[in-house]
Amino acid sequence: MKDLSPRKEELEPIEIASIDEIRAVQLERLKWSLTHAYTNVPMYKQRFDAAGVHPDDLQSLADLAKFPFSYKNDLRDNYPFGLLAVPRQQIARLHASSGTTGKPTVVGYTKGDIDNWADLMARSLRASGLRAGDLVHNAYGYGLFTGGLGAHYGIERLGATVVPMSGGQTEKQVGLITDFKPDGIMVTPSYMLNILEQYHKLGMDPRESSLSVGVFGAEPWTDAMRKEVEAAFDMHAVDIYGLSEIMGPGVANECVETKDGPVIWEDHFYPEIINPETGEICEDGELGELVFTTLTKEGLPMIRYRTRDLTRLLPGTARSMRRMEKITGRSDDMIILRGVNVFPSQVEEQVLATGGLAPHYQIELYKSGRMDAMRVFVEATPNAADNLSKTASARMLTKHIKDMIGVSVEVIVGDPGDVERSQGKAKRVVDNRGAG
Ligand code: DLL
Repeated sequence: MKDLSPRKEELEPIEIASIDEIRAVQLERLKWSLTHAYTNVPMYKQRFDAAGVHPDDLQSLADLAKFPFSYKNDLRDNYPFGLLAVPRQQIARLHASSGTTGKPTVVGYTKGDIDNWADLMARSLRASGLRAGDLVHNAYGYGLFTGGLGAHYGIERLGATVVPMSGGQTEKQVGLITDFKPDGIMVTPSYMLNILEQYHKLGMDPRESSLSVGVFGAEPWTDAMRKEVEAAFDMHAVDIYGLSEIMGPGVANECVETKDGPVIWEDHFYPEIINPETGEICEDGELGELVFTTLTKEGLPMIRYRTRDLTRLLPGTARSMRRMEKITGRSDDMIILRGVNVFPSQVEEQVLATGGLAPHYQIELYKSGRMDAMRVFVEATPNAADNLSKTASARMLTKHIKDMIGVSVEVIVGDPGDVERSQGKAKRVVDNRGAG
């Protein structure tokens, strides 16, 4: 793999500023953001008043703990524009995430917000190893989802050439990658596996592709998956994190030289980790729920927003700003199976560690009598798809899951292509416990 590490001169000064400088910028911006939210969004005024706090009470970063949290439901309750802090006429763009139940959550950006977003995406791409003049294939979905347009504007801001491919049409994706010879690809990790599969179907060697880096995010993926994709394409696989409520992609991004968890762009987003049950703040290094406060957002400031993503804050390495540990799951993805907590990502690790299995999987939850039970659907690799090999792989995965995660599950090994393919974010868990 090529060495893509950026030189120091290529970074923005704030990326390598002292911690004191970064904290000073944060405090100043945090005061502005709390005041902006309190003055312009009725919900924040009511919440702060009810909690007996005022933006002027913030004298240090630690004082943020006195302020109330905000939640995804707040966006639904104030649908569509109730949390905007500027008149709708000043909003340059709206995005929305569909959500499985009820109304979508709507987010709005001023021109200034869009500009900051493009800057932060460009910074993220530089951290990933891309540069001005590169060609980038963008297979994140365009539309209301923040992935496509968020990445698009960042690629342009970097001074690179964007191919606005969007998701789907997998055969065409491979055709364009072959013809245009991009340096980088931006796509969900699960969809990258579809693209990989298409290479094999066409009898092409993905290691011969021009790609030297993939910027993968929008869903959890493990280090085991990273190794798989890096080996298959002979390229770097870097993690990008973000969420619509806070901005979109580019809230945090891994550095290609370390690949040790996304660096949080702390000059624009203030992170906290809390105990999801008590709401108390955890020390850096402790596992808990990630909470963000936006520091510069004009259109939709979010104060202490509960992401439900579980991770820990880690000290800076390649940059001064703190990192987050690669996300292993969301609190809403956690399966409690007969008292044992299980995350889909743990199952993913075991699937990838078992010979004869392809990296496609889906988990079904169902009732067995009164008990919850779990079934894991996987598929054999083409060279291990005979009945004997499939039985052996199923037995092996069942044992790995029992030994490493501590739960007994049923494993069904299908033929290549049996597991539903993702076009964007993969659906890892199907919950049939309510059915029948
Ligand atoms: O998924 C934004 C995005 C687009 C990020 C493209 C990266 C690349 P939402 O649709 O609002 O926004 O979903 C946000 O997705 O709270 C996490 O649970 C999950 N997520 C996003 N990035 C990662 C990641 C976009 N790198 C939700 N690892 C977040 C794990 C991720 N989970």
